Amino acid sequence: MAGNVLEEIKYKANIVDVIGRVVPLKKAGSSYKACCPFHNEKTPSFTVDEKYQSYHCFGCGEHGDVIKFVEKYYNLDFKDAVKQLAEEYNVDLSSGGFGGDSKYAKWYEINRDAALFFYKALRAGPNPGLDYLVKRELNAETCKTFGLGWADAEWHSLQHHFKETGTDEKTLLELGILKKGDKKNDDGTDNIYDKYRERVVFPLINTRGKVIGFSCRNLTGDPPKYINSDDSPIFQKKNYLYGLNVTRNDISKEDAVILVEGQMDVISLWQAGVKNVTASLGTALTENQAALLQRYTKNAYLCYDADAAGRKAALRGMDILYRAGFNVKVFHVTGGKDPDEYVKQYGRQAFLDLMKKALPFADYKIAVLLEGLDLDKTEDNIRFLKGTAAILRELSPVEADVYIRKVAETYHVSEGALRREVASGRKAGGERPRPKYEEPVPENEPGPKNERTAPAKEDAEGRAAQRSLIRIMLEKSAYVPMVKEYRDAFTDPAASRILFAILSLYSPDAELDMEALAEALEPGDAAELEAIRRDVIVAGRDREIFKDCVRALEKKQRERRLREITELLAVLDEKRDAAEIDQLMRELLELQKSK
Ligand code: UTP
Ligand code: MN
Repeated sequence: MAGNVLEEIKYKANIVDVIGRVVPLKKAGSSYKACCPFHNEKTPSFTVDEKYQSYHCFGCGEHGDVIKFVEKYYNLDFKDAVKQLAEEYNVDLSSGGFGGDSKYAKWYEINRDAALFFYKALRAGPNPGLDYLVKRELNAETCKTFGLGWADAEWHSLQHHFKETGTDEKTLLELGILKKGDKKNDDGTDNIYDKYRERVVFPLINTRGKVIGFSCRNLTGDPPKYINSDDSPIFQKKNYLYGLNVTRNDISKEDAVILVEGQMDVISLWQAGVKNVTASLGTALTENQAALLQRYTKNAYLCYDADAAGRKAALRGMDILYRAGFNVKVFHVTGGKDPDEYVKQYGRQAFLDLMKKALPFADYKIAVLLEGLDLDKTEDNIRFLKGTAAILRELSPVEADVYIRKVAETYHVSEGALRREVASGRKAGGERPRPKYEEPVPENEPGPKNERTAPAKEDAEGRAAQRSLIRIMLEKSAYVPMVKEYRDAFTDPAASRILFAILSLYSPDAELDMEALAEALEPGDAAELEAIRRDVIVAGRDREIFKDCVRALEKKQRERRLREITELLAVLDEKRDAAEIDQLMRELLELQKSK
């Protein structure tokens, strides 16, 4: 699990975003360039490679992955760099051997307890919440699956419950389950009361089954229709998609996801048998949400409401998904309804039929563009040409070519003119900014069966070196910071997870606590750790072993970088990417020299 945490961070925290926030990056060919933040220079020799999620400075040689950058730039140790990124990208560290996270374990527990309290209250019916859900045609199984509940109209029901269980009120306030009024009570005590009252409760559950917050609907629809948990260390709206805890397996199975606007749409579709659905909670889709979805599929259908707001959200959501590497299609339900009402009235099949007619990315955008235009008018014709060209420029050259022909034929515009217009505005490297660079990591089922990155055969030597390095760190923890420098070279999955656990437990003034280390690992990895202790014999040769292993890993790293460079050189365009090619050639020569 420890390694999965690391991979999850590396997956969610796009290096271009993380570095781009503090260093002004300029796109150059398939990578990004800047003046190096780690040494003084006037001409940029610092590059960030999105595909490989790495940075490299040709001037000072500094290089590494996103975590290494955060360590160096913010002057943090490994542990704190991981924590900083994990917090920002909502990665749960509690299983990664990071002590001190039991605070959040408690938070999850409290939320779960509150959700159960609301759920029982709904079940205890009759109550207005139950009546409301019945009116909205949700059955008991659906309510149970999504854990729906009822917060009654009293001011202190949940508060009393937590008094009985002896739960700390301060935490309840931090979690936003209870609120504190501005005025004190008559007796001078704080006026503390339940935040959610007279509302149907939708617990927000993440894909690990943890309750991280609540979204609660009133029965009238008066604003605010829903009140939601505020962002907290365990809940960030921008990282959350509703319903994935229930629907993610169906999304994988169908290899497609339907994105809708609200949680009622998710639940209704699910009940009607359209199960591969999810929703962002009423806000525009974010890049993090797209990254989260990528674990399950690369095919997305946006089905937002047909009103102006829904259309606008669809356009924006589309761009985000497209850039994240999704095949995106869009459709709207007809008749001024939302998906919930539509599927209730017309049923599953009608909804699926609509979905079959969903428009691909470019077609949808062109359709929206056309809405306000009259192609018989010259100026609208020009607008159409320019607008279409802007849309097609986002596509890969091959895709664009297909569309140029299609659009020219369908709308009777000049193919040559459209082609010129598309070409004239095409930016260097006009491909999707962030191609998927590796398999996404499932966060739920740790363990060997998820080892999708099978170690390459030829890597036996590398693996042996990695195991030996682990062994000498166990022997003398003084090696930990030294081995850490070669973290990137740990390609063996088990070894890299063990290294991660070691780094997270390391402190400079003590040897490693073997028990805590074993504790931080999944059983399979703990067994591997035992095997390493047994198999690798140090016998006072630690310095030699360290040197030999490092040499072996450096060689591996060089070989890997050589492969990367060769691959990059093969896809770069001689004219467009001349500068980058030049740099890569120089690096190539350097690497070959040091061989
Ligand atoms: P909608 O108003 O479309 O709600 O908002 P809905 O889910 O269809 O709910 P019903 O059918 O009226 O019961 C879409 C989503 O926007 C968020 C909610 O997550 C909602 O599901 N929202 C909406 C809020 O967070 N606050 C609000 O006040 C309204
Ligand atoms: Mn609705």
